[in-house]
Amino acid sequence: MQAEVPSRTAYRVALRRAAHQVFDDPVVFHDPYALPILGLTPGRLAGSDLRAPKRASSASLRAFLVARSLFAEESLARLVQTRQVSQYVLLGAGLDTFALRNSFPGVHVYEVDHPATQHWKRRLLYDNGLRLPPNATLIATDFEAGELAGSLRAAGCDPQQPTLFAMLGVLPYLTEAAFQQTLGMIGEFSGMRALVMDYGLPREALPPEEQLDFQSLADRVAQAGEPFRCFMTERQAAQHVSAAGLKMCDELSAAQMTARFFAGRGSSLCVLGSGARLALAESAAP
Ligand SMILES: C[S@@+](CC[C@H](N)C(=O)[O-])C[C@H]1O[C@@H](n2cnc3c(N)ncnc32)[C@H](O)[C@@H]1O
Repeated sequence: MQAEVPSRTAYRVALRRAAHQVFDDPVVFHDPYALPILGLTPGRLAGSDLRAPKRASSASLRAFLVARSLFAEESLARLVQTRQVSQYVLLGAGLDTFALRNSFPGVHVYEVDHPATQHWKRRLLYDNGLRLPPNATLIATDFEAGELAGSLRAAGCDPQQPTLFAMLGVLPYLTEAAFQQTLGMIGEFSGMRALVMDYGLPREALPPEEQLDFQSLADRVAQAGEPFRCFMTERQAAQHVSAAGLKMCDELSAAQMTARFFAGRGSSLCVLGSGARLALAESAAP
């Protein structure tokens, strides 16, 4: 990330969530704030090329973003019931609107993001008349600076409370060292802890035609000032999360995302390719 520039990738994924509300039928991830946070109306989106993406990879990306949000929020709902999660920490929150939609009175939401992105989000919330509820706290920090644990504590996040962390669309942009530090911080939470995240397989693990799509996306995000950095195999992902005392307990490939979130809900959305993974890792039950 560039020090003073809000995340452009956060804007792009937020636009696609907004497009899902307007153009996809049925809407499977309902987010009444997806358009308002961007200051958009359905009419203003109508003429955009988001209506019918020309590239199959763009349509697939929109489906993936919908699946990712559903996966995270359905995991949260389950863990609130089964493991009494009372803190939801969105690492690299971008323009995620969960804090505005949080229907769990016992769950405090901590949104952590790079200072430049978070400053921009605060302005968007203000400009578009959206107010965060008292059970939401915004924390500005750069994951590369090694200050995450202290920032969370200073904001009142309690390491003894059952906590779900989310890293959605963040891993590819971090150095491996920052990811490991983040896992170290999660490992210091002494109560129940869990992590929901997405990650991508390394380019060399993909079939040749997907390597071309990967490179094209890598070029675009690099141009936006957010170059790809961190990719991993399933085995490496399992090893990484075990450093935080977590064990993979739900992991989905693209085909499994389509089956779970779209086929079962009468939607024609489809996640393509073999490189994307959604994963939920949890600490052992006492
Ligand atoms: C692709 S966006 C995803 C945003 C959000 N999770 C979503 O799904 O809409 C990547 C996010 O990671 C954040 N990010 C990237 N590098 C970061 C860093 N070094 N420190 C803090 N946040 C970072 C960006 O500011 C941005 O909000």
